[in-house]
Amino acid sequence: MNEVLKALKERRSVRDFTDEDVSEEDLKTILETAAYAPTARNSQAWHATAVRGLDKIAVLNEAVKKANQKPGYERYKELAATASYSINFRQAPVFILVGVDREKSVCQSEDGALVIGYILLAAHSLGLGACWINQLGVITDEPEFRESLNGLGFPPSHRIIGCVALGHRKKLPPVPTRRLDHYNIVA
Ligand SMILES: Cc1cc2nc3c(=O)[nH]c(=O)nc-3n(C[C@H](O)[C@H](O)[C@H](O)COP(=O)(O)O)c2cc1C
Repeated sequence: MNEVLKALKERRSVRDFTDEDVSEEDLKTILETAAYAPTARNSQAWHATAVRGLDKIAVLNEAVKKANQKPGYERYKELAATASYSINFRQAPVFILVGVDREKSVCQSEDGALVIGYILLAAHSLGLGACWINQLGVITDEPEFRESLNGLGFPPSHRIIGCVALGHRKKLPPVPTRRLDHYNIVA
């Protein structure tokens, strides 16, 4: 099996990380690889803000927990309210927010999801661990949370499609049985 197919099949969501930081070089490699993701009409209208360091991520985590308690943003209310809830599983040293421009992307969710897919796979190929984190998309427009995003340099024109917790994995979870019956080929 070639290396790309091997990586595609071996990648797993990693939620348990060592204390080791992610190097600037690896982080840039991952974000620059994501630039090669396809986007509808080649808009490339996405932006990734990578937040580094447990302190900064803890501040963002508090903003996420607070926003999820506000009226109109209750989708993750119970989950975010638990003491153990943490967007980076309390350990991942990098947290990446991926957003797409509401005006310039004609397929916002699709463009953003592919970018995140590239980030997850690039991280895996470097021996790192990563996991998609979903809870920030629904609070993108909560005013106080938007202030937090502004403070991180996340563009006001963008909405969050998803996020990635990134770090050095403790171990790679085994590949679970995958369904292989969800396609048909017509000749
Ligand atoms: C759209 C999407 C949202 C996800 N959100 C979360 C999340 O918020 N938290 C989490 O721990 N995993 C999240 N995941 C990871 C999935 O749980 C994971 O991909 C799935 O269980 C399959 O496991 P694998 O990635 O190891 O193959 C998300 C995955 C996708 C594609």
